Amino acid sequence: MKILYAEDDIIVRELLSMQIEATLNLKVVTAASGNEAIECLKSDTEISLVISDYNMPDGNGDIIYKFMVDNDRKIPFFLFSSVVAEEIKELKNLLKDNSHNYHFVKPVEFEVVIRKIEEVLINLREELINYCKIKIMHFLKFNTINCDVYLKLSENKFVKVISKDALYSTEIVHKYATKSTEYLYILKEDFKNFYSNFSKSLTYSLEHENDVLEKSVDLQLTGIAAVYEMVHILGINSEVVELVNGVYKSTLAVLNNNKNLSKILNGIIKNYNYLYEHSLLTSYIASAIANTMDWITESTVQKLMISSLLHDLSLEKIAGKIDINKTIDVENFLADKQIDHRIKKIFLEHPYDTSMIVKNSYLLAPDIDWIILQHHELPDGSGFPHKMDSQKIPPISCLFIIAETFSRRIYGKTIDKNLINEQIDFFNKNYNSGNFKKPLSGLSKSFHVL
Ligand SMILES: [Fe+2]
Ligand SMILES: [Fe+2]
Repeated sequence: MKILYAEDDIIVRELLSMQIEATLNLKVVTAASGNEAIECLKSDTEISLVISDYNMPDGNGDIIYKFMVDNDRKIPFFLFSSVVAEEIKELKNLLKDNSHNYHFVKPVEFEVVIRKIEEVLINLREELINYCKIKIMHFLKFNTINCDVYLKLSENKFVKVISKDALYSTEIVHKYATKSTEYLYILKEDFKNFYSNFSKSLTYSLEHENDVLEKSVDLQLTGIAAVYEMVHILGINSEVVELVNGVYKSTLAVLNNNKNLSKILNGIIKNYNYLYEHSLLTSYIASAIANTMDWITESTVQKLMISSLLHDLSLEKIAGKIDINKTIDVENFLADKQIDHRIKKIFLEHPYDTSMIVKNSYLLAPDIDWIILQHHELPDGSGFPHKMDSQKIPPISCLFIIAETFSRRIYGKTIDKNLINEQIDFFNKNYNSGNFKKPLSGLSKSFHVL
């Protein structure tokens, strides 16, 4: 849990945030104005409570609260002011809107504030700790679930919509799947059990249902979504590895049954979830390139495909907040003043962060963490995090970088002859050096462009 604290007085801001962090063991994000606080709320979904002074240059506390109300951010808001909240239009309903909102009349002792934060967060934790969210699409794969399923009505209210072991129809799931309801909830104590059954049944389907391209791709995307959810809550455990292997084998089967790579890639891009679709595209492209190269063993292909499925795990924190086209040119992306520096930081750190998740699991083959760590390096040495160039980047990583970059560059477009030729021209101009040369010729062969 994180707290956002908006206060223009730097001394008060530093002192209170230091005390909160030290006493409550929480991370405090600070802002010096209303508008800066709004930017923090836009870029950070993990903020669980906002504390704000009222009078600040560049936006008073009321604009933060208005932003929260307008954007349905139902987290507690603590206001510090010497004016009565009811007299300010935007804060009129402050105490009615959420029973956890609070108004401190200045001056106030830090200890009183800290005790109030503690009290509210204990309540929130108790309410939230019991539930975990599951992508609603997962419930379409079954007609019975081994635990009760809930719909979230508000920040603190959940209602049971599917009973444990009862038969349900996909219509009921469709009924809840509105634009604002992406998830249903289960009790945390049921999570392991739910995912154990879910991943077993998904792994079985992935290994046995490979006849129809659309169905296979759909199962693979569901598998990737489940992997992301499981890794975030359970870490990389044996069931995650089994599921990742299921997706990998299903991908190989599809490649064996379909010789037209463009057709497969077109079937993956649904513009539904960039990260899942991008990961799957990368996996197919990496595997197709690898198949054209005689030095590559089966276990190397497996490493490349598993790296593809996991390489952007740590990007999920900012998924939906960045226009992915802007990350294609990293230099421009970093120079873009409209993009918040926190988003840039998460982007720059994601190869390292994801490689550490993989490395710490000990369940995946060695080298996968290295491939992931190096996936944003560039031939001319201008990439990150280590600015390695085409002589220093190992051949397997060069192959992966080509597949991953190609996958980003074609995302959201119709894959036809013109697009492929245009992209291959780009790679020939920019990647035709050192250890990139061989996988680059493999890329052309994969699409039968010689
Ligand atoms: Fe990526
Ligand atoms: Fe990436």
